[in-house]
Amino acid sequence: MTDLPPRLVSGIQPSGELHLGNYFGAIAQFVKLQEEYAGNCFVFIADYHALTTVRDADTLRTAVFDVAATYLSLGLDPEKVTLFRQSDVNEHVELSWLLATVTGTGLLERAHSYKDKVAKGIRPSVGLFYYPVLMAADILIYDASVVPVGKDQVQHIEMAQDMATHFNEAFGGGQNTLRRPEYQLSPVAKVPGLDGEKMSKSYDNTIPIFLSGKKLKKRVAQVVTDSKSLGDPLDPDTCNVFALLKLFVHGDELEQLEGWYRSGARDGQPFGYGHAKQILAAKIDAHFADARAKYEAHQADRSQVEAVLQAGAERARTVARATMDRVRKASGLR
Ligand code: ADP
Ligand code: TRP
Repeated sequence: MTDLPPRLVSGIQPSGELHLGNYFGAIAQFVKLQEEYAGNCFVFIADYHALTTVRDADTLRTAVFDVAATYLSLGLDPEKVTLFRQSDVNEHVELSWLLATVTGTGLLERAHSYKDKVAKGIRPSVGLFYYPVLMAADILIYDASVVPVGKDQVQHIEMAQDMATHFNEAFGGGQNTLRRPEYQLSPVAKVPGLDGEKMSKSYDNTIPIFLSGKKLKKRVAQVVTDSKSLGDPLDPDTCNVFALLKLFVHGDELEQLEGWYRSGARDGQPFGYGHAKQILAAKIDAHFADARAKYEAHQADRSQVEAVLQAGAERARTVARATMDRVRKASGLR
């Protein structure tokens, strides 16, 4: 391994309808980072991982496509980013086996996300237990230097660091066969959901990115507020609607909005949560209008997304195979 360029790798769970939390917490960051890492970005849709929970082939296929179409519509550029399906590059699974041989069961037993799921009563499969090993392989096989993730994934990246070190110590013969990756946290820590908790598809409190028109207004109307009446002064610092508005409105416009909140009035007329929600729905609708049109076009003609995924798989395989050659040599496999 000599003089590798900085390289970004990240995986996305194919979880169907993506929401504002996914956009501001993850997608927007990918779109930004693709400039800095252009040509050295590997982003894949983690369908092998999804098999630990999804048990319906059509559901999985649809989710993989929808997520790819969502990312492309929102500005991920296949010229800069190698976007592909994880299962198109089966070297991920091969490397995961070699990593498993140098990983203590204790390391995996300490995984928070595994322990949380077991605590929730899920009967764990070996696959769920093994999840961090496959994830480490996803990262190490592309010689990632940086892995952008949310806070909940940090421990998994630390495990990948450990596995790279263990592998190099066990098989490296003093050489760094595998590169040690670092994580990068997304700057938007928590987008609140309808109930004020973290927006998450598991909590059924999301605003999907591509919802529009009446359906969007109805969803935004469900954002929980306190019981202040129309015309009362409102507190922007504790309001869920305002927290969401801040993602779309900036500078002078935000200051003006804050003024309406604190005074409970706009242009001499009473201002209340209903008005704030109307503004929010209009902002979301407008912000994603272009991307929504692209998404609908991808749904009507699936060929472009498929072509991107196939070309991505080709490129990814070339890099993954080169790493596997090194790893096979280092470990004594032919
Ligand atoms: P969900 O909680 O809906 O299952 P995931 O866990 O699949 O979402 O998250 C995918 C990505 O989106 C992760 O990088 C995660 O950090 C980010 N993300 C999800 N929800 C939020 C949120 N409410 N605020 C900020 N980032 C989020
Ligand atoms: N486990 C990640 C999640 O739930 C998805 C993922 C799989 C991933 N493999 C990865 C993320 C490799 C970063 C790098 O969001």
